[in-house]
Parts: sequence; C-alpha cells; structure tokens
Amino acid sequence: MAGSSSGLRGNRWWRSSVGRVVAGVTTVTAVAAVLVAAPGADAAASTLGAAAAQSGRYFGTAIAAGKLSNSAYTTLAAREFNMVTPENEMKPDATEPNQNQFNFSSGDQIYNWAISHGAQVRGHTLAWHAQQPGWMQNMGGSSLRSAMINHIQKVMAHYQGKLAYWDVVNEAFNEDGSRRSSNLQSTGNDWIEVAFKTARAADPSTKLCYNDYNIDNWSYGKTQGVYNMVRDFKSRGVPIDCVGLQAHFTGGSSVPGNLQTTISSFAALGVDVALTEVDVTNASTSQYAALTQACVNVARCVGITVWGVRDSDSWRSGESPLLFDGNGNKKSAYNSVLNVLNSGGTTTTPTTTPTGTTTPTTTPGGGSCSASLSAGQSWSDRYNLNVSVSGASSWTVTMTVPSPAKIIATWNVNATWPSSQVMTATPNGSGNNFGVTIQHNGNWNWPSVSCSTS
Ligand code: G3I
Repeated sequence: MAGSSSGLRGNRWWRSSVGRVVAGVTTVTAVAAVLVAAPGADAAASTLGAAAAQSGRYFGTAIAAGKLSNSAYTTLAAREFNMVTPENEMKPDATEPNQNQFNFSSGDQIYNWAISHGAQVRGHTLAWHAQQPGWMQNMGGSSLRSAMINHIQKVMAHYQGKLAYWDVVNEAFNEDGSRRSSNLQSTGNDWIEVAFKTARAADPSTKLCYNDYNIDNWSYGKTQGVYNMVRDFKSRGVPIDCVGLQAHFTGGSSVPGNLQTTISSFAALGVDVALTEVDVTNASTSQYAALTQACVNVARCVGITVWGVRDSDSWRSGESPLLFDGNGNKKSAYNSVLNVLNSGGTTTTPTTTPTGTTTPTTTPGGGSCSASLSAGQSWSDRYNLNVSVSGASSWTVTMTVPSPAKIIATWNVNATWPSSQVMTATPNGSGNNFGVTIQHNGNWNWPSVSCSTS
C-alpha cells in the first residue's frame, strides 16, 4: 500500500510539475540537483497501487476480515493495493444483525488494517436487496423505510469522516433497465433518492456512490436505466457523487468494446466513475488490459478494485479470475494491468493547479536532512505533490495537511497517515523522492513538511 516500492515514472512526473518549488533552509541547491538527476528516469512503478497513483488513481481489492490473520494474504495485499473494500463486513447483515443493535467489529478490523497500511476504504454497502439481516427481510412499507434511514444514519455516523466512498445503494435495477422488485422498492420508487439524501446528511465528507453489475455495456438496457437515474438525480440536485461499475466479467460475460463510452458517459454527468469489483474469467490478459485502459482514458475514472486478492480468495475461484494465483504469484494479467497503468493516465487532464498560500516549512533534523515540495498533477478534487529529501539517505519526513484536506495516497515511500492529516514517511528503497496525493476538500493550501534523520 503506502509502502509500495520503486519507480515513479520520473520524467513525465517531473515534467508535469509546475511552478512553486518551495524549499526551506538548505534545499534550493538540493532540489536543483534532483531535477537534473531525476532518478528512475524511465522506471515504471512496480506495484498496482503505485502505478495507479501516478495518475492520481487508486488500485484496490476486496478484503475479507477472516483472512487478515493469513500473512501471505496480508503481505500481498499491503504491497499491491491502496484501496480496500470490505467484501462482506460492512453489509447490513454484518453491521445491524438485530434491529438497532450494531456490530462494527469486522468492519473496523478491515478499516484499521487498511489505514495502518496506507490504504483508503470504500464502504460497501448500505441499502441492498441482498444480505439483509433476517429482521429486515421480513419488513416492508413505512417501517422498512424508517429502518433503512436509521441504518444509513447509524452506520455512516460510526464511520463519519473515515471512508473515501460509500456504496449507498447496490444493485437496484433489472437487466432491462427497470427497477428491481424488492422489499426496498416496495417502500416507494423514491427509496434510492431518500437513501442518498440521508447519506449526505449523515456524512458530508464521503463520496456517495450507486453500484451495480452489468452496467458496463453502453447499449444495454440496465446501463441506460442507471444512467437515466443518475442524470435525473443530478438535474434535481439529489446528492450523488459516483457510479461504481462492478465489472464482473465472469460467469459468461466479457469486457464490452464500448466500456470506455460507458465510463465517459457517466463521467459527463458530473460523477466519479470506478470499476469496483473486477474479475475476468481465466484472467484474460487482453480483457484486463482493455478494462484498465478504458479507465485510464477517462479523467474521472478514479480507480479500479479487483474483487479479491488471489484466485483462491475469489467468490468465483473456479474461474481463476484475479491477478494472483493461489500461491500469490503474479499472473500474466497482472503485468498487462501494470503496463497499462504505467503507460496510461495521460488523459487525466488537470483542471486546476494548487494555489496554496502556505509556505511549507522545512526543518532540518539532526543537522543534515531537509525536505521540499513541488507541484505534480492536479484534478478538480485532488492534487499530487513531489517531495524531495536531501542531506541523508535515512530519514523521517512528517507532513501535516491543513484540514479538511486529506492525504489519500503515496508512492515510492513507506508512509502511514492514521489521522488523514499527519503523515510519517520513511524510505522504502526507491530513493529520496516520493509522491503524495492530497484530496483538497476545498483547501488548496499546501501542507507543511519537516525532516529528521533516523
Ligand atoms: O461466513 C459464512 C460461513 O460461516 C458459513 O459456513 C458459510 C456457509 O455458506 O457461509 C459463509 O458466508 C458466506 C460469505 O460470502 C463469506 O464467505 C455467505 O454464505 C455467502 O453468501 C457470501 O457471499 C458473498 C456474496 O457477495 C453474497 O451476496 C461473497 O463473499 C461476496 O464476494 C459477494 O460480493 C458481491 C458484492 O457484495 C456485490 N456484487 C456482487 C458480488 C459477488 O456476488
């Protein structure tokens, strides 16, 4: 995760830096030297999370709490991924087993593991026809409507300010684009917008997503049904921030040729788009490359999550659909995804550049180490900073981001940021330059940095 190793794509990354090389004390000379001798000039990032982070994206996986005691599993997951979706642990049957009695133990276990490894978390899911607790399955009408609202309020309150995204509503459409019948649907056609309005009020800091499968093919009825709902919501001001295309290309389906059209069409409505539960029958390298390319070609495609770590972890393990085999070895599809991520991202057009007024302070520690910042790419909601350390090869950089901005990703460094605002970083063998992605939340002021030798 944050400790992902080696290789930023030195040249492009440094070329994209604009203005504001701000250095304190001893660093002007040091920064100039780094610019001339940018390391790893044509190096590629060597993990999925680091490769995706170069274009401000994430690469995630589904994590099961029951596997967190397996060190082969956690070592691999920590190394490769910088976004985590709890596979089952934040679903209604897990979080509210008895009405109005909540249990966050497994969800918290995953959340704590993720942030301690520098990953963000996607909440999954709040309102769904499946995996309802028994008491909810038997409800309907106004009592179910109230129970849904209470569930969203209480679960989101527990994770308030902590999650990057929430799948507020999951799988509410039929294949023909009509609404799926369910006890939730029977409470009234407005149940989805009530869920989103409730969610926004419960935690304004989290991006609110609609998530579904078989909405990858632009000409498919279900895709159009969901698209029309999102368009309607945006036109009426119903709060929705993102659409998740589950992208299960298993069980007989495959990547459609128009996937990029689907992603860009949703994005054009003013929402983030993500591929949220990817798996591909027999991990076809060409299909994995195609879906990755479709995402990196669209600026608002913010990330890709595969639905499990190793084939043996998959809900469809018989189709060997993931990027690592059961022994944790990289499959050829892994390399095809990594290659696309390393060569992609060029179309994530910056929409704004950081305009902070805070001067980063650089504090030499132990007499010989300093850190400086320069701008990387930026987007409407986030920006990258380059951090350059000089004076020592063994160092600890501390970065403090002004609230409500949050650190959401790093690369080429071992880093943790338990509070989202304060990060501690040490070298991971990639050298003295590393990257940070900051979600600004309206505050573009740059963070302060200090460096100490260790
Ligand atoms: O943990 C119990 C275990 O104690 C028990 O012995 C066993 C007996 O069946 O069941 C175990 O629970 C299973 C759970 O996965 C954990 O493995 C459930 O039966 C099983 O239904 C559940 O399946 C999950 C499925 O959602 C349920 O709908 C899958 O793990 C999970 O990958 C899958 O994820 C969904 C997404 O949430 C939404 N999109 C589709 C995706 C794939 O179906």
